[in-house]
Amino acid sequence: MSTTTAPARRVPASAPVTAPTPAAPQARDWWRRAVVYQVYPRSFADADGDGLGDLRGITSRVGHLAALGVDAVWLSPFYPSALADGGYDVDDHRAVDPRLGTLEDFDAMVRALHAAGIRVVVDVVPNHTSDRHAWFREALASPPGSRARGRYVFRDGRGPGGDEPPSSWRSIFGGSAWQRVVEADGTPGQWYLHIFAPEQPDLDWSEEEVREDMLETLRFWADRGVDGFRVDVAHGLVKDVDGHLDVHVEILDTGIEGGNHPLWDRDEVQEVYAQWRRDVLDAYDPPRSAVAEASVHPDRRARYADPLGLGQAFNFDLFACGWDAGEMRRAIDGGLAQMAAGSSATWTLSNHDSVRHTTRFGVPPREGVGSQEAAKAWVTSDGRDPVDLDLGLRRARAALLLELALPGAVYLYQGEELGLHEVADIPWEAVEDPIAVRSGGEEKGRDGCRVALPWTQDWPTFGFGPEDGALPGMRQPAWFGAVSAAVQDGVPGSTLELYRAALRRRRELTTADDALTWVDDAPGVLHLERPGGWRSVTNLSEVDVALPAGELLLASDPAVVAGGALPPGTSAWVRVPGDDGR
Ligand code: BGC
Repeated sequence: MSTTTAPARRVPASAPVTAPTPAAPQARDWWRRAVVYQVYPRSFADADGDGLGDLRGITSRVGHLAALGVDAVWLSPFYPSALADGGYDVDDHRAVDPRLGTLEDFDAMVRALHAAGIRVVVDVVPNHTSDRHAWFREALASPPGSRARGRYVFRDGRGPGGDEPPSSWRSIFGGSAWQRVVEADGTPGQWYLHIFAPEQPDLDWSEEEVREDMLETLRFWADRGVDGFRVDVAHGLVKDVDGHLDVHVEILDTGIEGGNHPLWDRDEVQEVYAQWRRDVLDAYDPPRSAVAEASVHPDRRARYADPLGLGQAFNFDLFACGWDAGEMRRAIDGGLAQMAAGSSATWTLSNHDSVRHTTRFGVPPREGVGSQEAAKAWVTSDGRDPVDLDLGLRRARAALLLELALPGAVYLYQGEELGLHEVADIPWEAVEDPIAVRSGGEEKGRDGCRVALPWTQDWPTFGFGPEDGALPGMRQPAWFGAVSAAVQDGVPGSTLELYRAALRRRRELTTADDALTWVDDAPGVLHLERPGGWRSVTNLSEVDVALPAGELLLASDPAVVAGGALPPGTSAWVRVPGDDGR
């Protein structure tokens, strides 16, 4: 059982920086129990027909988001970018990629979303810029030791002529984490750190100018009516590079406790977020929210969700689970227990970095391999390894009801409301993800969940763009038409209608009481009770289980009836007489 309390508020005496956008919803704590829908702008909807999704495309689909019933959208980066990492290589944090629109288009989009009662969260990428950012270009043109280089992590190389990288660290996307530059006089020069792709040089957060600039970025978007921020790689930023150049650091080993890892989750990073909270987030009325993407040891997650810092943090534990009741129960219990006082739990099954869970749940488990890894192996096999797509979809529908029954906020990923599967057979020429590119195709990367959405059955872009428009770089597979939004709209039992009904019901059923009580009645079953007298039952076993008698509120399979059998791979919400004391 778990209950949240309101965070302490410290609105400064000074007036709010701007008046809130007129149509913006005012509640301060909206993010606690919100259903947030992640839009990956470049593959959501293409209004101008250049083959790339854009802001006007998002505005044109506000009706879809409103009918779905989401509380907020989170936009992955829409900033100018060479797309070396899907937009997470940002050229200018305070501008819109001209291919995606203008600031006026952004304002119009925010107005339309707010008018539909939908809040807006934007991604900020504070750990690095792109290598096309004005600061980085200035750094390349400036000598070693200059102020311009000091905004990034430039170091001399080792060995004769400085030909060796400053340390043995590997980048998350493969290869060395250091890239050598050519100095202005044409000679081989210093090296700079890039934890991700070489096109994403890491910033040096010990520099005051770097800190101030991000505050400006936050204010820039908050002034335009943005309600909150998703903070990319929130556990990065502050590093102790020089103390560790001699040490081989496992770049992905973020599980080290104690805040002493040279690159990740250092205790000092919380000072950055305390300043964001004090100087920006709480300087607005209503305060702007923030959610941390922090891949840290679960015991340290709460630090990122501190109300005096970012306030909320993603929990990727459920996201990592296979179709296994024990694993999921542990993830849920852990998520509730680790919730920071004054924050709320968060749940997610898919995002732009994962194999879609609809497919993941159909990939057979592998001994000693996590569900995400097993699914990645399936993608890398070009879809030739066995997978049961129908089973995956069936389980994904059941998982939705489980997730939405939990206390806290839920983050959905675009296209999951259509039951979209991963696209596993993207041809090499179309591949975009640096993980795939840098591994020479050995890894397939994350492109398969970033293919342009199908809105209609209309060939050739399935309503993603105008009929005579350019095709998206990653072509949509032929099967997309049959699962498009238009085909599912109004069709009883469709995945789209299940999502709409589930979000509607959740809104009716959710109270301010975040208690959750497990009802332990059968192996392989996740049966929980929520305040207000309703239950969610999910059958993860291989056999039918009995569903309690009462009023059936919703089921993931239309054949389910209250008091009847709940087949494997299904969920139901039931109101049981007497549960709420009536
Ligand atoms: C984002 C990724 C991105 C990386 C580097 C993440 O965690 O979600 O898509 O590649 O940060 O910015």
